[in-house]
Amino acid sequence: MHQFQRTLVTSALPYANGPVHLGHLAGVYLPADIYVRYKRLKGEDVIHIGGSDEHGVPITITAEKEGISPQDVVDRYHRMNHDAFSKCGISFDYYGRTTSERHHQTAQEFFLEIEKKGIFTKKTEKLFFDRKADRFLSDRYITGTCPICNNPEANGDQCEQCGTHLSPLELINPKSKLSDATPELRETMHWYFPLGRFQKQLEEYVDSHEGDWRQNVVNYSRTWLKQGLNDRAITRDLSWGIKVPLDTAEAAGKVLYVWFDAVLGYISFTREWAEKLGKSDLWKEYWQDPHTRLIHFIGKDNVVFHTLMFPAILMAWNQGRQSERYNLADNVPASEFMNFEGRKFSKSRNYAVYLGEFLEKFPADTLRYTIAMNYPENKDTDFSWQDFQNRTNGELADTLGNFIKRSVDFTNARFDGEVPCESSLEEWNSLGINWTDTLRQLDLAFEQFHFREAASLGMEIARASNRFLTESEPWKVIKIDREAAARAIALSLNLCHALAVALYPVIPETSNRIYAMLGFGDSIEDRFTRGSSLTASLLRPALSKGHKLRPESEILFTKIDDADIAPELRKIEALLAEAEKREAGVEQNRQEFKPVISFDDFLKVDLRVAKVIAAEPVKKAGKLLKLQLQVGSVTRQVLAGIARYYPPEEMIGKNVVLVANLAERTIRDEVSEGMILAVEGADGKLFVIEPAGSEINGRQIQ
Ligand code: 2FM
Ligand code: ZN
Repeated sequence: MHQFQRTLVTSALPYANGPVHLGHLAGVYLPADIYVRYKRLKGEDVIHIGGSDEHGVPITITAEKEGISPQDVVDRYHRMNHDAFSKCGISFDYYGRTTSERHHQTAQEFFLEIEKKGIFTKKTEKLFFDRKADRFLSDRYITGTCPICNNPEANGDQCEQCGTHLSPLELINPKSKLSDATPELRETMHWYFPLGRFQKQLEEYVDSHEGDWRQNVVNYSRTWLKQGLNDRAITRDLSWGIKVPLDTAEAAGKVLYVWFDAVLGYISFTREWAEKLGKSDLWKEYWQDPHTRLIHFIGKDNVVFHTLMFPAILMAWNQGRQSERYNLADNVPASEFMNFEGRKFSKSRNYAVYLGEFLEKFPADTLRYTIAMNYPENKDTDFSWQDFQNRTNGELADTLGNFIKRSVDFTNARFDGEVPCESSLEEWNSLGINWTDTLRQLDLAFEQFHFREAASLGMEIARASNRFLTESEPWKVIKIDREAAARAIALSLNLCHALAVALYPVIPETSNRIYAMLGFGDSIEDRFTRGSSLTASLLRPALSKGHKLRPESEILFTKIDDADIAPELRKIEALLAEAEKREAGVEQNRQEFKPVISFDDFLKVDLRVAKVIAAEPVKKAGKLLKLQLQVGSVTRQVLAGIARYYPPEEMIGKNVVLVANLAERTIRDEVSEGMILAVEGADGKLFVIEPAGSEINGRQIQ
């Protein structure tokens, strides 16, 4: 194990193609911020690097739709997201942009280094080309009918309706989004990164983190490793992006694949951070000194890019080098997803609450706290307005806010705003919680990325404190025993300080306000010094006898009325109704006939009668049923998009028609070995075709 001297934290770079929403905040930015704030509180050397991912095809699609340039698109969303993050208290040390000159240069430097070492391979392949637009079409520029669910507007890479990952070649009737033309296949050459060459090194890397990485992160990575790593194309035929830095004909018109460049953004932005400080070599300490701990905060959809792809790029750079070797990540705390009112956030369906808009109505700390308490650490969680209201009113306002205000007000009213006597935090043990243990747990919770636990522990301290104050009733006791009242209030004030420190990573603005009320100047950050830990200050009372509070107190949290969230709830109802309508109405079958096929082509299709022997729903694919079919003496598993029309038990025992020689496909980690035939009714409902007769199972259809 290394002795770490500093920590570099990165947060996934959001695409500058739309506003960030609460799901992004919950998975990446808030946890990263909580972690870095905790480290700063402990006096550790830590920097937090983030920024906008400004390349990639969706950005050019947005630009074309709106009739503006890609640069306009990224300028707009970079600013919007950067503002929203600042408002939310996400404290980046640097927030860069992948369109910067330094970044282009860094990414090109990596490309050239790997090219020079002869690691890349090159391959010629056939891709769709739009003759009218005179351009190769990346997957996102192609639309067509989904072969699984018949959605006529499936994208070349994925069908939004049934969630299936597709390749453009699988689409029925592919069309270019640029011109509506039917695209043709043309040859083009691309650079590939041979991930397979790093298979063994990557296996060792992942194995070495078994136990300290989250299980889901290890599992996702191993699933890929087990399948065997393939060559990955790292260039594209596009104009928006980082040019392939070679002066050859084959490089013309090509840019680096957005993921190849994005991960390198972490490095470019650290360089820019150092340059801005006027210490242009300082970035090297953070990337190349093995005593630096590197942590990537990401969502689960980005795992393999950070545990396999990026490390492999760095391994390729490091290969054969004695110096200027890059560190690999020590941890990649990938989150699960946070849903919103029971449904997945979806930008394309506009089913989301955007961070910037949220913060126009409610304060950042109420959001930060609610999200921390619902941090999707090991499983998907949910954000609901009701929960937000309950936590704000009950936990933040009634418990924490109330305790702080009562303590400060009482001191101001009855003890001239001065801490009346010394106090010992050991007395706190008498509240029924072991102080030393709690502090140790709190430290571990922050260090090991258990942010829900950390926030809960903080709230437990607040609850115990509030109870203590209520039960010791200094406002009554003072009439008969001034000293006892003084002891109770001195302890309470010290607990106010402890709460400000312990909850600082989660609700920093509130902690600052508590600090100010306690008479410590404007902000808790003013007291941060490298090498001296503020959390250590929790081990002894921080307020001595005679310490002066600020004369005015303030209300820390305003309660949320039902009327405040009513419009939000109405908005969700409308969005849900819209989504339902869309789902029900999409499948308008095309009346046109498909192109003629030859008799021989038809004979290639092997149709069999099969019997359904088992049926069950497919997790996270609400439309699919997983069927086990008996076909003569063999069984086949088929995923069918009929869950909305047939309960599983109703399918069992039915005879169905199976396309028995269709290439296998994997949907939601389940294999589908064929397809069953169904027809669509007028209202979009599907009817499975059921051949009559009981003795025909396995028979080929003539
Ligand atoms: O998934 C995304 O939103 C990507 N823009 C994340 C990139 S993370 C890193 F590689 F830059
Ligand atoms: Zn589909």
